Amino acid sequence: QVMRDVSGISSLEAQVSERLGIDQVIIVNGDSDEDPLIKRELGYATAVWLRQEIRSGDTIAVTGGTTIAMLAEMMPSLAHGMDVQVVPARGGLGENVEYQANTIASRLAAKLGGTNKMLHVPDFVSEDVYQSLLAEPHVRERLAMIQSARIVIHGIGEALKMARRRQLPEETIRLLDSGHAIAEAFGYYFDQTGQIVHVMNTVGLRLGDLKKIERIVGVAGGRSKAHAIVAVAKGCRQDVLVTDEGAARAIIQL
Ligand code: BG6
Repeated sequence: QVMRDVSGISSLEAQVSERLGIDQVIIVNGDSDEDPLIKRELGYATAVWLRQEIRSGDTIAVTGGTTIAMLAEMMPSLAHGMDVQVVPARGGLGENVEYQANTIASRLAAKLGGTNKMLHVPDFVSEDVYQSLLAEPHVRERLAMIQSARIVIHGIGEALKMARRRQLPEETIRLLDSGHAIAEAFGYYFDQTGQIVHVMNTVGLRLGDLKKIERIVGVAGGRSKAHAIVAVAKGCRQDVLVTDEGAARAIIQL
């Protein structure tokens, strides 16, 4: 019985990998839409992956969100601290502090026994303020550190849900709606073909920076995120996807 389940999951992993053009797909049993405990499983599977992948000297960038928060939560504390650095992929994106990238980066760093650098920059700044922030030596130094990450681990959201969670202005929500945005990652909103509909003015990793990053890991589950996962896979390179059965079965049916 157990063996059959295992092979069922690995054939599902192969199908999703082929469908999305993502090298490594890791699927946990269940559907996080139906059972919130499955999000912990996503976090745990990501933690297992990271522990195998991580090496001394690494910089790891993480985004915010309830899913990536589970990575920090489920990562066991390493007995011997590692020489690694954990940074937020982007500045605050208007999330509840628990789910902000800064908070998650500092928790993950503590578990790994590594160091953490925060990026304290406000959301929703005007283009002028954004440009002045980028000119700040402190911000530039942090940004360079973030851009030098070898591994980035990010969440994937549904566009309108994320826009509302971040309390974006009605005007932006209308723009997302009329542009048929369905997915969000890194503050970028994508339509189903992977085209960018809108980008937030937030200091941090930009899509162009991903080219230099060795391992881009997306973590998202629940069948409600199936469309969003497919759109993000089209819009930006993904090397690893950690998802659940609910999302995976929906993806192969799309
Ligand atoms: C956010 C990330 O914090 O989490 C987003 O910045 C991502 O890019 C979102 O879409 C996903 O959130 P959750 O809670 O569904 O994991």
